[in-house]
Amino acid sequence: MHRSLILGLLLLAAPASAEQYRLGLITPPPHQWTITAESIAAQIKDATDGRVEILVMPSGQLGNEARILQQLQTGAIDFALLTSAEFANRSDDYGVFYAPYLAKDTQDAARLLRGEVAGELLDGMGDFGLHGLAWGMAGMRQVVTTGEVHEAADLDGLRIRTVPLAPEMAFWSLLGAAPTPMPLPALYDAFANGQVDAMQIDHEGTWNSGYYKNAGTILDSRHMIFPMAAVASSRKWQSIGADDRASINAIFKAQIAAMVDLYGEIDAINLARLRETDVPVIEVGRDWFGTAVDDWYTEWRAKTPLLARLEAEAAQ
Ligand code: BEZ
Repeated sequence: MHRSLILGLLLLAAPASAEQYRLGLITPPPHQWTITAESIAAQIKDATDGRVEILVMPSGQLGNEARILQQLQTGAIDFALLTSAEFANRSDDYGVFYAPYLAKDTQDAARLLRGEVAGELLDGMGDFGLHGLAWGMAGMRQVVTTGEVHEAADLDGLRIRTVPLAPEMAFWSLLGAAPTPMPLPALYDAFANGQVDAMQIDHEGTWNSGYYKNAGTILDSRHMIFPMAAVASSRKWQSIGADDRASINAIFKAQIAAMVDLYGEIDAINLARLRETDVPVIEVGRDWFGTAVDDWYTEWRAKTPLLARLEAEAAQ
């Protein structure tokens, strides 16, 4: 076949104006967020006939979440799956999902993440220079300590790793522990080296990242939801054609919803695996934490009226 004809056929087969976009996130490749991000990217490529190709950059390759947010705002990064840390640190409204024992279980958490308050917070992402696509979550929060823990008093003075965000840190301060903010990628070494005595985490991470190997106790506490925001850079969002935007929006929403629905199972599977290890797993509930839970609500109700509205949704 003539070379120019071959070239012509190749050009016809290529998508009209394929553009490569980048999605940043801090979770490692085996984490469900990363798996879902890969699946979203593949489906979007398909649905847009290759016009929108999203490269998933896990494990904080594009920097920590503060850095990812900055890059989204300038349009240097296009999409991200983020914890709520950067939002909650800028606006108390975004701290309400961290209310301890707000959700009974992952299903209840899913309901709240699809509720009215969640919808308003997603719409409000414009204030951060973002377009909100969907609320997701990781598993319910649990506690892993290097030493033995039997009662809440044993947490007194412990340096407990939290995500760098005010509402989580407030809870641990109220318990008399020393909250030590630390992003996920730094956690394994810090726990193994004794830089922290405990961590707030989920069963998925405890198993997948092997935190249990250096653990003395695992508290199956399920004390908080851990929300995730799927977002696009507002700047980049505007530059994508309306039809492709609609496809991207729909795919993110559907896949993130399916992921949220999977978390009950993910937590249960990883808890069962952890129970097979030598590390004692202790079930604890709201009462175990004493007055810290009520004190947290008193403090945070004064910070944002959205908390009382979310509590009302939770009570329905
Ligand atoms: C964490 O920092 O604990 C975390 C971040 C993203 C997903 C799950 C956990």
